[in-house]
Amino acid sequence: EKAGYEHFMIKEINEQPKALADTLFPRIHDGKIDLTDAGFSDDMIEGIRKIYIVACGTASYAAQVGKYVIERLARVSVEVDAGSEFRYRNPVLEPDMLVIVISQSGETADTIAALREAKKRGLKVIAITNVVGSTLSREADAVFYTRAGMEIAVASTKAYITQLLALYMIAMEVGRIKGKLADEEYARLLKELERVPELSKEPMEKKKDLQKLASQRYMDQHAFYIGRGLDYAVAMEGTMKIKEVSYIHAEAFSAGELKHGTIALIEKNTLVVALATQADLLEKMMSNIKEVKARGGYVFAIVQERDAATVADQVDQVFTIPNVEDLFAPMLSVIPLQMLGYYAAVSKGCDVDKPRNLAKSVTVE
Ligand code: F6R
Repeated sequence: EKAGYEHFMIKEINEQPKALADTLFPRIHDGKIDLTDAGFSDDMIEGIRKIYIVACGTASYAAQVGKYVIERLARVSVEVDAGSEFRYRNPVLEPDMLVIVISQSGETADTIAALREAKKRGLKVIAITNVVGSTLSREADAVFYTRAGMEIAVASTKAYITQLLALYMIAMEVGRIKGKLADEEYARLLKELERVPELSKEPMEKKKDLQKLASQRYMDQHAFYIGRGLDYAVAMEGTMKIKEVSYIHAEAFSAGELKHGTIALIEKNTLVVALATQADLLEKMMSNIKEVKARGGYVFAIVQERDAATVADQVDQVFTIPNVEDLFAPMLSVIPLQMLGYYAAVSKGCDVDKPRNLAKSVTVE
């Protein structure tokens, strides 16, 4: 039941700190992430040359974060594909490739079809899923269970965040076993990762800022979500959240790409949600923000606390997430985006938990 919340979506957003903790802590033993139950042995990891991640919708946006993080920490190249594309394009698959499928429900037809295709072609498939006993969990060679608990709202929130976490854990383990991540750096990252469940409580405390934005006229027509690198991957998920529950059209852009055409759509008061959580990209992001401001856009920026003062006078509104290792920022920055979608839907009077045209799991192709 809703435990005092108005909708399942906001209840599940608030359950994210627990979902993260439940997925992370039972898998840490003696200062190491233990993924043996999910099919990752040292031998198996040493044999991986390339990773293919296949998923649909929100899970595929989690995969986009995963690609970035795995490539960064493990130096293994990662390809991401939608289930419905993978199957019909005769993908180039090689024997030393690992296929990871991600699905909250474990019942998405396109993702199941992709798993079957990969297995038919002789590849090992690991499923990241939230549902014990689901089709994917039964058919995969091994399963990484996210422990988000049952997700009822159609818009995925706590499942997505645990999918991110699962991918971070995989990236760190592959990086460690392959010798790409030195012991010290691994230990430092793990310590930081252990802080994330607690830190993820903070954005919920600032709901007023998001409610305010959600009820303003900037939300009328359409919005752009921009970011670079990891922030771009999170922007994709952010636009999904606002589109599906509030029916506001939103598009995610890598900030550097905006000027190659789409900036033509920025006019006075167009809402631009700018994610700028990455220190090495902050300066570049600021110049993209200036381009948007110069055309009258209304910029809502999401940054780490440490950068709030730098950014404040160059944007219209700032939302800060707690300071964290940059790599892990997606698990915090997605929360205000989920809340923005939620509050926009509430202020428009939409049926938040059951948006039009959508079902919780898509079992048709
Ligand atoms: C969006 C959403 C969908 C699902 C997609 C895949 O909030 O929930 O995009 O992510 O239909 O579903 P699963 O993860 O069950 O395979």
